[in-house]
Amino acid sequence: MIKILGIESSCDETAVAIVADGHQIFANVVSSQIDTHALFGGVVPEVASRLHVQAIGIVLKQALLKAGFSLSEMDAIAVTQGPGLAGCLHIGVQAAKTLSWITGKPLVGVQHILAHIIANRLEQPLQFPLLALVVSGGHSELIYMESPLTYRYLGGTQDDAAGEAFDKSARVLGLPYPGGVSIDKKAKQGTPRYPLPKVHTEKPLDFSFSGIKTAMINLVNQKKQQGTLVIADAAASIQKAIVDQLLEKTRTALEQVAVKQVVLAGGVAANSELRERFAVELAAAGVEVVLPPLYCCTDNAAMVAAAAYDKYLAGDFADLSMAADPSYEL
Ligand code: KG4
Ligand code: ZN
Repeated sequence: MIKILGIESSCDETAVAIVADGHQIFANVVSSQIDTHALFGGVVPEVASRLHVQAIGIVLKQALLKAGFSLSEMDAIAVTQGPGLAGCLHIGVQAAKTLSWITGKPLVGVQHILAHIIANRLEQPLQFPLLALVVSGGHSELIYMESPLTYRYLGGTQDDAAGEAFDKSARVLGLPYPGGVSIDKKAKQGTPRYPLPKVHTEKPLDFSFSGIKTAMINLVNQKKQQGTLVIADAAASIQKAIVDQLLEKTRTALEQVAVKQVVLAGGVAANSELRERFAVELAAAGVEVVLPPLYCCTDNAAMVAAAAYDKYLAGDFADLSMAADPSYEL
């Protein structure tokens, strides 16, 4: 059994997990900063870094206690190297390097987006080749994967990420942070009756969300002036527009690549309309649909330890000169 200790600190969650053989979770501890950032209406990088420093030692201790292992029983130490907020990533990377040094165990740097995709393996085996739709606060991407370590970028956002469109729309509607969660809740009470523009991108597999986000802001301001704004209907409209585009591009990608599975990943994968429609509409395309369980949509370290397993098997290790890479591309 190969046991990997994973660390995640790329944004507003401080997390440590212990995962065996890339899928068996022994501990998965997450300390969320959401309550603090909600006071500011979004993640404040400097505040986030300080909170990671406060939390990391305690979260590490809890994970080891929960798993019932000692540090010396780990086979490797893994950490999110990027992408993410520079100051936040540094805390996790520094902690991982220290642990690797004192235990003499290999160090593995993990790409955050890849970890979101591999998170699905915590629940069910992944079958390759697969197509992954990654949707989070910073990313909207379609990735074709031949194996856990070989992948090809098919398309991505040209402007805002899907999560960002959710978050900004929530803000203009006066709904609390994190916006995606608020829109999801509100949309359940509304009807998507407000028209939002259809999106055109130069490349068919790219995404664009800034147009619908701006149209949404204008629409809300106009309805507010008229005194006719129905917040639930606005939430349902923006959610539908975002999900429509995500599904349309994924369907187009499925026409271009032959895959065994289509996999959803990232923070926005928690969205109830996206989950329902992803399952129904993409199953109609004749591939197996894989949805991540809710606990691994939010940033966590189990996905980091899981993704590190394949690099561990390939002997792809980092040394103590490893640095956080805030714009680490796939
Ligand atoms: O993956 P994640 O935790 O952080 C990044 O790596 O970016 O994703 C966070 C994003 C936020 O934009 C948040 O609003 C969105 O995921 N999100 C949701 C839902 N839950 C979280 N968006 C839509 N519906 C949800 N239920
Ligand atoms: Zn994430």
